[in-house]
Amino acid sequence: MSLGPAITLTNVSVQYGTRAALLDASLEIPAGSLFAIMGLSGAGKSTLLRSINRLVTPTAGQVRVGDIDVTALDAAGLRRFRQNTTAMVFQNFGLLPHRNTIDNVAFPLRLQGQAAGPARAAAKSWLERFGLAAVTAASPATLSAGMRQRVGLARALVTDAPVLLMDEPFSALDPITRRAMQDETKGLQRDLGKTVVIITHDPREAFRIADRIAVVHAGRIVQSATPDELRSRPANEHVAALLAAADL
Ligand SMILES: Nc1ncnc2c1ncn2[C@@H]1O[C@H](COP(=O)(O)OP(=O)(O)O)[C@@H](O)[C@H]1O
Ligand SMILES: [Mg+2]
Repeated sequence: MSLGPAITLTNVSVQYGTRAALLDASLEIPAGSLFAIMGLSGAGKSTLLRSINRLVTPTAGQVRVGDIDVTALDAAGLRRFRQNTTAMVFQNFGLLPHRNTIDNVAFPLRLQGQAAGPARAAAKSWLERFGLAAVTAASPATLSAGMRQRVGLARALVTDAPVLLMDEPFSALDPITRRAMQDETKGLQRDLGKTVVIITHDPREAFRIADRIAVVHAGRIVQSATPDELRSRPANEHVAALLAAADL
């Protein structure tokens, strides 16, 4: 098993018009780790995550994924990087409504230029692994939220991308399904060695699965540490209040 790459942000700022959403963010995400980004709504979590695959283009600073300078990629390089190195899972699943389950999962392989047959075969084996063999021909709209997010996860895993970016992937799920998916994600990350970056506004979720946690507040990274360090030495009152509110 080869570990997913380290991700490094150096003095990254993102400005939307006159609004600064991320301010001078520097962060080291270790190779092959499960790294959580935690913070309140509007803190800048999605902006930070999206700067990693440049769905958001930083106005200043540098993002590196392994030996790739993401901030310097041209259009063709960026397309290859997104197709081969990163995969993303979204809160609202982001499935294609007019394609059935198996074709949703096969889609990233088709984008890479794979023929339909082998792409579907790879998709099918991920769907089987997630207990979804019976619904390969179903439309996403007919599936439960938990099943839809397993389809979303299968789609993110099918290309073997070494970096998995997850933006509040479990927020729309009931508590039991959420817990099961947290465990599944942790297990997959251990088995596959990927670098997984997951956003959550739920400190309990972050503490349950993450190796390290960064707390974002008002566009700034206020602390990046292990769960134990956050608990024993919160960097400021905001971090302490977040943990206290979650009974941690
Ligand atoms: N495309 C955009 N245009 C303008 N402002 C945006 C855009 N996306 C996010 N913002 C603003 O930037 C800030 C950070 O947003 P975001 O990164 O989505 O926060 P989070 O994911 O932590 O809820 C918020 O104030 C949000 O309103
Ligand atoms: Mg967000």
